[in-house]
Amino acid sequence: MNLAELSKVANAMTTPGKGILAADESTGTIKKRFDAIGVQSTEESRRDYRELLFRTAKAMHDRISGVILYDETIRQKADDGTPLVKVIAQTGALPGIKVDKGAKPLPFAPGETVTEGLDGLRERLIEYRELGAKFCKWRAVIHIGPGIPSYDCINSNAHALARYAALCQEQDLVPIVEPEVLMDGDHTIGRCEEVTEFVLKTVFQELYYARVKLEGMVLKPNMILPGADCATQASDKEIAEKTIRVLKDCVPSAVPGIAFLSGGQSDVEATARLDAMNKIGGVPWHLTFSYGRALQHAPQVVWSGKAANVSAAQAAFAHRAEMNGLATLGRWTPEIEKQAA
Ligand code: 13P
Repeated sequence: MNLAELSKVANAMTTPGKGILAADESTGTIKKRFDAIGVQSTEESRRDYRELLFRTAKAMHDRISGVILYDETIRQKADDGTPLVKVIAQTGALPGIKVDKGAKPLPFAPGETVTEGLDGLRERLIEYRELGAKFCKWRAVIHIGPGIPSYDCINSNAHALARYAALCQEQDLVPIVEPEVLMDGDHTIGRCEEVTEFVLKTVFQELYYARVKLEGMVLKPNMILPGADCATQASDKEIAEKTIRVLKDCVPSAVPGIAFLSGGQSDVEATARLDAMNKIGGVPWHLTFSYGRALQHAPQVVWSGKAANVSAAQAAFAHRAEMNGLATLGRWTPEIEKQAA
């Protein structure tokens, strides 16, 4: 393991002004997104869409530090034959890869899942590194509901995350450690706070047992939010304050950066809340984004599968990348959002 190199990459991934584009939707998930815009999901349409994003050269160069890819995409070539990994690297962004095999039902735990994919992972990591990946992602999913999450669910997922992270570092790949507490449901913001705190404390304990070097990883957590169906919603300020409080309580300062998932927030909400956290400041880590839906929803709708819409879709992607880039610096405002749109 080369810790100096891992630390350099982890810092580059969370460098202020930039953030991560999560473009690692599985074939099933991207089909759902394409269904919503009336586009047939084929290997070619998925390639064309992702190439559109990666060729948004200025935004990629100025605002995107890294791109998380899916297994199919890391092997694909652009329309002109250039590997997509090279298209990304030419913009200065780092290519990364999702390596988990999805959340599967946890035995004797109704409504809960454990993320699988550890068997044969070392060999897959070696191949991905040869294909150009510099970092990896593994997402654990924690549901909140009556009587859940269980300790079994939190512990199983935290243990798997730690085993994954150690294998990545052994292979000189930076692990993105993503324990996502979902916003589905009608729970209060207080319940999300309590569950996220327990999850993060368990994850860092397991990372310690697995001898993961915190300097060479990136944490990808949820923000502290009320459930989407909760009658009492929260202000951006409350969300920012509670998220920072939980992170300060649970995340050691050796971690270079924290890159949030958007998790079903609207794109502007995800930007406003990241900005609110960076306006509060005074934290030992860089706070940035690793958004999927919040960066891609707007360009997907504009594109709608039509070649004639490519430049307009690129402009929509560039706008969201720019707004989130400003949010990493605490320099976003609702006025800038409107002016630039
Ligand atoms: P969202 O921002 O759409 O939640 O996706 C981020 C991600 O990579 C989830 O694993």
